[in-house]
Amino acid sequence: MVSSYAITEYPNVSEIYAKAKNLLQIPPYHFKKSAMERYMDFFEQKCTKSKSLITEAKKYIPGGVQHNLAFNYPFPIVVEKAEGSYLYDIDGNQYIDFLQAGGPTLLGSNYKPVQEKIIDVIKECSPATGLFHEFELKLAKEINHCMPAVEMFRMLGSGTESDMAALRIARLATKKKKIIKSGGAYHGWSDQLVYGLHLPKTGRFEAHGIPASCSKHTQEVFPNNIDALERKLKLNRLRGGTAAVLLEPLGPESGTRPVSKEYNKQVRELCDKYDALLIFDEVVTAFRLGLGGAQGYFNVKPDLTVFGKIVAGGYPGAGGVGGRSDLISLLAAGVEGHTKRAYVGGTLSANPVSAAAGYYSIKEIEKTDAAIKAGKVGDRLTQGLQKIIDQYNLPFVAYNQGSICHLETVGTLFLHLNYLKILKILKEIKIRKQAMEEYGAAYMAEGMVTLAGSRLYTSMANTPEIIDEALGRFDRIFQNIETPKID
Ligand SMILES: Cc1ncc(COP(=O)(O)O)c(C=O)c1O
Repeated sequence: MVSSYAITEYPNVSEIYAKAKNLLQIPPYHFKKSAMERYMDFFEQKCTKSKSLITEAKKYIPGGVQHNLAFNYPFPIVVEKAEGSYLYDIDGNQYIDFLQAGGPTLLGSNYKPVQEKIIDVIKECSPATGLFHEFELKLAKEINHCMPAVEMFRMLGSGTESDMAALRIARLATKKKKIIKSGGAYHGWSDQLVYGLHLPKTGRFEAHGIPASCSKHTQEVFPNNIDALERKLKLNRLRGGTAAVLLEPLGPESGTRPVSKEYNKQVRELCDKYDALLIFDEVVTAFRLGLGGAQGYFNVKPDLTVFGKIVAGGYPGAGGVGGRSDLISLLAAGVEGHTKRAYVGGTLSANPVSAAAGYYSIKEIEKTDAAIKAGKVGDRLTQGLQKIIDQYNLPFVAYNQGSICHLETVGTLFLHLNYLKILKILKEIKIRKQAMEEYGAAYMAEGMVTLAGSRLYTSMANTPEIIDEALGRFDRIFQNIETPKID
């Protein structure tokens, strides 16, 4: 039983929402013109190789980058080297890495003890043979050791696939169709889950190219509203029932809209009451909050758990679904298969590299106490940010759940869609998204990579000195902010 977790003090959720409400009532704070020019100058003068490569890439790759994380205003940077706390771009600029490949590199980038083991595996066995490798068993046993609710584990290639598999299992097991998710949560880009994406109440707003029938049985409820969830479950009971409630246990977008500490327990009780399965999407929280994941921290047992990138320690081919053995057994193939099988596939899933990388990364996280160390520096970073925010009397919102740190300067992710005021909200989203990109650019120009300018993951590689260096840079950045004129 894992007993230590990265969260030293659970954030005051009502205070966060009160501050967020205040942030949304004022226009975004922008940088002084001279400062913004300096930041843009950094990109023009110091990132010339990145600029020309990305310009070329735009001819061959849609948008110039292969996924959203790599997007950056005014243009993406091209990374050449990753080591510990730092990333280095092709022009030789060094950045403190608070993006961490979107979360998985809790041990720090390119962590040597894992890297060396993976090189041995490749030399010995090649990246893939199509047959079983012992590391698949080792990884499944290790996950079960950390999270006893994960009695069985099926490794897959991504978080997206793993969420899809979890829903398929839930529907087959319960013979019900409806899935309830938290509005605004991202669970990958499958047809049925591009629904209520990023902001609550957005429904099919981003479901371009997806027939309405695909998300016919997907529903969203407002995050952190237990009564709304019960209403939906009750209503669904009259319409064939709910197969599963799918949640990120910290709240949508890795806790950007945090839930109260009791919320997950209450959801568990409701799932039992209404006979629905509870699925935790722990793509970000597993191992990062502690070896026991969010389920260990909240002491809530989900029926199914979805894993993503961290389950291969940041190496490619990373995902999986685990949980109650009677449920996961529905995936069984071959002679032991059930007559009705939840069909999943993936030729390169659970290849020796991802399975070994996952196994050794989790072992190292355990050996080094990485989650706790990263959580401590997460506290240091957040407390330091709060001090600077107070010093300059800024309306920004900073809080953290261990090594997941949130810095909301414009509050875009606190918006939700209201169809009665749709034009006003859409305009607001656009304005705030642009401002958010400016903050991302300023952080980058000061040598810090963040997730979309509003989330910062810390790692075991971040020493207190590195965090203090980052805080110095934030101080410099926040000095350049102009108070908006409010009529
Ligand atoms: C909570 C959550 N679920 C699912 C996914 C999708 O994972 P992947 O990008 O591996 O498909 C992500 C990706 O960021 C995520 O954060």
